[in-house]
Amino acid sequence: MGDDALRTRRVVGNWKMNGALAGNAALLGACASAFPESAVGAGRAVEVAVCVPFPYLAQARDLLSGSAVRWGAQDVSVHSSGAHTGEVSAAMITDFGGSFVIVGHSERRAHHSETSALVAGKAAAALAAGLTPIICLGETLEERETDMTEAVIAGQLSVCIEVLGYDHVAQCVIAYEPVWAIGTGRNATPDQVQSVHAFLRRRLGPAGASVSLLYGGSVKASNAAELFAMPDVDGGLIGGASLKLADFEPICRACA
Ligand code: PGA
Repeated sequence: MGDDALRTRRVVGNWKMNGALAGNAALLGACASAFPESAVGAGRAVEVAVCVPFPYLAQARDLLSGSAVRWGAQDVSVHSSGAHTGEVSAAMITDFGGSFVIVGHSERRAHHSETSALVAGKAAAALAAGLTPIICLGETLEERETDMTEAVIAGQLSVCIEVLGYDHVAQCVIAYEPVWAIGTGRNATPDQVQSVHAFLRRRLGPAGASVSLLYGGSVKASNAAELFAMPDVDGGLIGGASLKLADFEPICRACA
C-alpha cells in the first residue's frame, strides 16, 4: 500500500544470546567486507544491521565502522539512568555507536513478562536517545488458529501508538514476527505476511507511509526473495540465519 519508495528497506540480524569474541570477529569482519561503504544491492538500497549481545557492542563498533553495516542491541531499559542494577540504557547503546535496538521481541514478552506498555516505554526511551527502535509484534500459534491474529496485533500496536503518538511511531521500525514461525523452520507464507503487513500499515494511519515493516520468523536464503517481494514487506529481522555470512548475505541481497 502507498508509495514504498518512501520507506527504507532493511535487513537486520538478531544474534540473540549467541557469539564469542573470536567467532564474532570473523563474522563481523566478513560482514564488513561483504557490505563495504556503498549501498547494498544494485536495485533498491538496503540498510543492513546486526543486533548483538550488549558485551559485543564495542566489538561491533570496532569491526563495522566504515562499512555499510550498522549495529545495535536486543533490548534496552525503560529508564535513562540510576539505580537499576543489570539494566542498560539507550544512551549507553548510542555511546557505542549503535543505531538500533530491538524491543518487545516475543522471547522477552514470553520469558521476561514484558507487557506492551513496557515495550512502548522502551521504544520511547530509545527514540529519546536517538536510537531507532525495532518494535516486535506477533501472535502465537493458538491465537492464529483461533482467528485472533489481527486482534492481537492491533492490541500490541495500539499501545505503542497511544504511548508514542503517530509522529514518534513514524520514526520506528516494526517487525511482524509470528511466534510460531520463530526458530521453528516454519515461516509464514508470503500471503499470510502480506495480509498482516497491509493490516498493520492501515492501523499505522499517518505513520504508515514511512514505517518500514520487517518480517521475521525462519527467513532463509531460500524463502527471502518471495517474502521481500510482497508490497508491504520492507525487509526482514533474521535470527538463526544471521549467524553465518553464507546465510545472511544472500538474504540481504534478496531485499535489494
Ligand atoms: P529466526 O528468528 O530467524 O531464527 O526464526 C527470528 C527472530 O526471532 O527475530
